[in-house]
Amino acid sequence: MSSDPAPTPHATPEQVEAAWHDRKLANVLYHDWEAGTYDEKWSISYDERCIDYAVGRFRTAAPWDGRPYLRALELGSGTGFFLLNLMQAGVADRGVVTDLSPGMVAAAQRNAEGLGLDVEGRVVDGEHIPFPDDSFDLVVGHAVLHHIPDVEAALREVLRVLEPGGRFVFAGEPTTVGDAYARKLGQWTWKATTTLTKLPPLQGWRRPQHELDESSRAAALESVVDIHTFDPAVLEGTARAAGAEGVAAATEEFSAAMLGWPVRTFEAAVPPGKLGWNWAMFAYHGWQRLSWLDEHLLTRVVPRSWFYNALLTGTKPR
Ligand SMILES: C[S@@+](CC[C@H](N)C(=O)[O-])C[C@H]1O[C@@H](n2cnc3c(N)ncnc32)[C@H](O)[C@@H]1O
Repeated sequence: MSSDPAPTPHATPEQVEAAWHDRKLANVLYHDWEAGTYDEKWSISYDERCIDYAVGRFRTAAPWDGRPYLRALELGSGTGFFLLNLMQAGVADRGVVTDLSPGMVAAAQRNAEGLGLDVEGRVVDGEHIPFPDDSFDLVVGHAVLHHIPDVEAALREVLRVLEPGGRFVFAGEPTTVGDAYARKLGQWTWKATTTLTKLPPLQGWRRPQHELDESSRAAALESVVDIHTFDPAVLEGTARAAGAEGVAAATEEFSAAMLGWPVRTFEAAVPPGKLGWNWAMFAYHGWQRLSWLDEHLLTRVVPRSWFYNALLTGTKPR
């Protein structure tokens, strides 16, 4: 960790200007800036709620016999949401959290220490993973592939560092159709919330203008930071082209995403801490009920490419 670059939580105007033309720099600056508040912004926790969510995504993507993997690597770990919660559920014994953003790696290591987990942290670009061949039996990622310019190169690297028979599981990737409706719903919710909270009786729900302006500037950078959306069949083809076998892309969340995106945008538009635990549980249970509807009914009638989340798995040939 000592040789890793330091976080840049407050980018200079020159750095921001350069980031418009350099997607990786944009990812570092954007996620370093977000690292300190990321868990709160996305209602990330390391308790039963998020453990269940993480394991649910893992099991939706891939078979798991309940025995722990021995050494897992996470790409684009952010604050550690996916791997740390998977480790708490017993999916892996030891782990390495990696991210392009030094601020995120530091946050993930703090979270791991707080949870007493055996975890190493490294600043890593997913296109060039600095570990020897055959180092891990599991590689995971959540909401990271769509940020990586050359996804096939990253998957080739994933397969290189996996031992033969080792598995990768990526979850939380936006489908092309899902991203289109999620963005629209998010934009409408932001506009409605920031307009209504100008009314005097609702001003206690308004975030200070400089924070709203900062969020709007960050949202503009999202267009540089978010590089891909995926068609599940094309994503499977990319993984096969990288050399994986047993490849499968699942999708989930249709009605659940139509609730989830407005909820998350609303949470980001009002002052932090204003909504509290009851709101978080209401949002989670609403999401769970709609996910049930998606899984048991809508998957039969809605094409898989219309669901919001894509999950990808495969193994390294033996
Ligand atoms: C949307 S966040 C997801 C974070 C976390 N996995 C989660 O689900 O909460 C995407 C993460 O990918 C990281 N990232 C972006 N480009 C990357 C790259 N080329 N290699 C590795 N990580 C990258 C970002 O810094 C960011 O922390």
